[in-house]
Amino acid sequence: MLLKEIKNIFHKELGALYQKEEVDTFFHTAVTHFLGLERFVLVLRPGLVLTKEEEYPLFETLARLQKEEPLQYILGETEFMDFTITVNPDVLIPRPETEELVEWMVSQYEKEPSKIQLLDMGTGSGCIAIALSKLLPNAMVTALDISSKAITTAKKNANLNEAPVVFKEADMLSPDLDLDTKFDGIVSNPPYVREQEKRQMANNVNKYEPHQALFVTDGNPLVFYEAIAHFAQNHLKPNGNVFLEINQYLGEQTKQLFVDKNFTQIELKKDIFGNDRMLSARWEGESLV
Ligand SMILES: C[S@@+](CC[C@H](N)C(=O)[O-])C[C@H]1O[C@@H](n2cnc3c(N)ncnc32)[C@H](O)[C@@H]1O
Repeated sequence: MLLKEIKNIFHKELGALYQKEEVDTFFHTAVTHFLGLERFVLVLRPGLVLTKEEEYPLFETLARLQKEEPLQYILGETEFMDFTITVNPDVLIPRPETEELVEWMVSQYEKEPSKIQLLDMGTGSGCIAIALSKLLPNAMVTALDISSKAITTAKKNANLNEAPVVFKEADMLSPDLDLDTKFDGIVSNPPYVREQEKRQMANNVNKYEPHQALFVTDGNPLVFYEAIAHFAQNHLKPNGNVFLEINQYLGEQTKQLFVDKNFTQIELKKDIFGNDRMLSARWEGESLV
């Protein structure tokens, strides 16, 4: 079949579910991924005919997109800050907002001349920990997650990217969580979507991404921030910092939580879409009151 006919079938079959530009992106990304052909192949070779074997992965992709499966799970990988990260339904698909969180941390630590210890809590695919380890050669990065399957994927990603991250399976909500290291920085993109926000979320997120990575109860939406703040008070070096991705609707409440816990230099930052999305705070190392 002609490649351009397959493109037309993509638009016909997916037009009711997705925007035209999105279907274009799906089609061209799949063609590049499975066939190694460049994005403008149809301009350069309008009469290109595919064999049955070449067609097969494109039609399989189409069928899975019709079920609203995210393209990244279909391809089994995504890009995070130019690093290739394998993904599967055991891990959240890394988001562009999270790249901004890593950029913020890198700008904070890149001029640090000595070795630093960083911790990523709730590492999922390992994307934050791996990017920090690669972009900050002086950093020794530890990462934890409650999900053993996520840790398996994160370790695979660290090997793929040759990033020497130490992974641990651990529950960040456990009051007994103790790591025998003091950290210069703690980063986390913890679950923060309230149950009440579930219906605003796209089907492909709700149906396919791990709920343990996303949702918190309406009654206690800052439960992870409470636990991270408590842990940070005991495991940050003096003047160490936390860097957190946050729920855009709970910026002020999250900030107040860190004020109440005696953190200083608390900064709220907006993402590329103009929403409150990140917070950093300093622990000066005074004794706990
Ligand atoms: C929003 S995802 C973030 C994943 C990844 N860091 C990223 O930014 O793409 C939250 C992660 O926290 C993990 N998690 C959920 N509850 C946890 C807990 N009690 N202790 C440790 N990790 C937990 C989930 O398994 C998930 O991988």
